[in-house]
Amino acid sequence: MKVGHISDIHWLDTTGARATDFLNKRLSGAFNLLAGRAKKHSKDTARLALETLKEKGVDHLIVAGDLSNLALPGEFSAVRDVLRKYFDDSQMTIVPGNHDYYTRESLKAQRFEKMIYASRPGDIDLGDASVWPFVDIRGDVALIGLNSAQPRPWFVAAGRVGEAQLDALEKALSHPEVSSRFKIVVLHHHLFQVVMTPGESLRCLEDRAQLLDICKKGGVDLIVHGHNHDYTFRYEAPVLICEAGSCSVCKFGREVRAGKFNIYTIEDRKLCGVETYLYREGSFSLWRSYHFEGGTWRCCPDK
Ligand SMILES: [Fe+2]
Ligand SMILES: [Fe+2]
Repeated sequence: MKVGHISDIHWLDTTGARATDFLNKRLSGAFNLLAGRAKKHSKDTARLALETLKEKGVDHLIVAGDLSNLALPGEFSAVRDVLRKYFDDSQMTIVPGNHDYYTRESLKAQRFEKMIYASRPGDIDLGDASVWPFVDIRGDVALIGLNSAQPRPWFVAAGRVGEAQLDALEKALSHPEVSSRFKIVVLHHHLFQVVMTPGESLRCLEDRAQLLDICKKGGVDLIVHGHNHDYTFRYEAPVLICEAGSCSVCKFGREVRAGKFNIYTIEDRKLCGVETYLYREGSFSLWRSYHFEGGTWRCCPDK
């Protein structure tokens, strides 16, 4: 089975938005867009990523949050339509990012849940009325979606999974339909500091230590996330933790910040390889591939 992993599409669409929609944290987001974000992310690059994932025979797609820029209805409906051109709802596991709950109003309206998640209940009954976490069972793979995002004050992009979800995750991991499968945990925020800035505490996952502990004890094989728009491949035996980077970035300085996506090949409940595709000169091509050998992950070309 081939599982694709994209994140941070940051689809911009102000269709139907009113001036009053910007009298909140969206004002700072709008300044960010004017300052360059809008030029860095391209809808064509995002479409090309989806097209390439389809061409590569991806069976299931993970979208690890930040589908929108400002959590506007026009953004959610446009990005949902684009994703559905390439993958059915049943072929996608999607979690929200901090931009998808940009304002308290977007949370209150349950916009992400209604327009993106489409009230899909997941395949395992965890005995809880909450949407998060949910479990998608696809062949011998179990995908567990967590919500690490919630509205925060201006200039704060930190996340938190919270006790209720952590408890439910533990429960899900011990469920026989999950424990017998290859287990992927999907969330938006990162588990390790990637960008060494003093502002890291304003954008990190506050309960990352607890989450990693539960994942390790619960036999999680792979954790995938977004948020940094950066490439990371970190093996915290026995768990592999990956971020490909934003799939829609068309302008960049360093390759690690360029448009990217990952493909994971899983056979007989084992991860056989990880491929990362990079956007340059109008197409996505293979940038790095990893395979497991001698008790560790080896990169080709050697890095
Ligand atoms: Fe993002
Ligand atoms: Fe983010």
